[in-house]
Amino acid sequence: MPDQAASRTAGPAGTRFREVRWLASVDSTNRLVLEEARAGAAEGLVVCAGEQTAGRGRQGRAWIAPAGSSLLCSVLLRPRLPPDRRHLVVIAASVAVAGAVESTTGVATSLKWPNDVMVGEAKLAGVLAEADGDAVVVGMGVNVDWPEVPAQLIGVATAANREGGRPVGLPTLLDEVLRRYDAHLDDLPGALREYRRRLGTLGRRVRVDLSDGPLTGIAADVDHAGHLLVEVESGCLVEVAAGDVVHLRSA
Ligand code: BTN
Repeated sequence: MPDQAASRTAGPAGTRFREVRWLASVDSTNRLVLEEARAGAAEGLVVCAGEQTAGRGRQGRAWIAPAGSSLLCSVLLRPRLPPDRRHLVVIAASVAVAGAVESTTGVATSLKWPNDVMVGEAKLAGVLAEADGDAVVVGMGVNVDWPEVPAQLIGVATAANREGGRPVGLPTLLDEVLRRYDAHLDDLPGALREYRRRLGTLGRRVRVDLSDGPLTGIAADVDHAGHLLVEVESGCLVEVAAGDVVHLRSA
């Protein structure tokens, strides 16, 4: 990563996010915050970058965002939760991002399992959690003000400005995300309720691309561990822990 000075600001008053570092460029804010976590950084560190040269997405994919046009940030948490409840901090992040985008830009969003923030069938924001020991680094990428959609994302991704959203500065959006995230982390059952309410995947016919082939059925529910329950043709519920969901038209 380019070793550059970061400007530092405080996070929203009264939240656990006490320090926000802003970098012009970094390989990946998630990688950097994981490194800080291993070096003993306290919960609440936030790192944002104007651009990432090796942004990380889910399932080993790259996260692509034109420079200076997106909120690219990672927060460090050290949740004192049993392993089967740790995913709730990721769910809470997607709920916080969706709410913050709506309240600051006016763009209506829905969630797609597991943590994609969508406008229709185009992705506006994504969340990637990476853990090391007791640390969980939650990375959020929000497409805010894209001059154009990068060629490889046409038809797949969108940005708030392209959906008629009000202009919003990245610090303002970050502040709103962090304020909401802090409140959701203090009420994880409430965050899960809000997640289900926003989850556009529920009730949809879906295809889940799994390592051993596709699974098709109706997305019936999300269980306490955040796994998707898909009702297949036989009527059985199949539990999906990880994978890519495609929303299908009803049969
Ligand atoms: C996804 O694939 O949906 C998750 C994308 C997460 C991207 C964000 S951008 C800031 C943080 N740093 C990274 O390298 N990735 C996450």
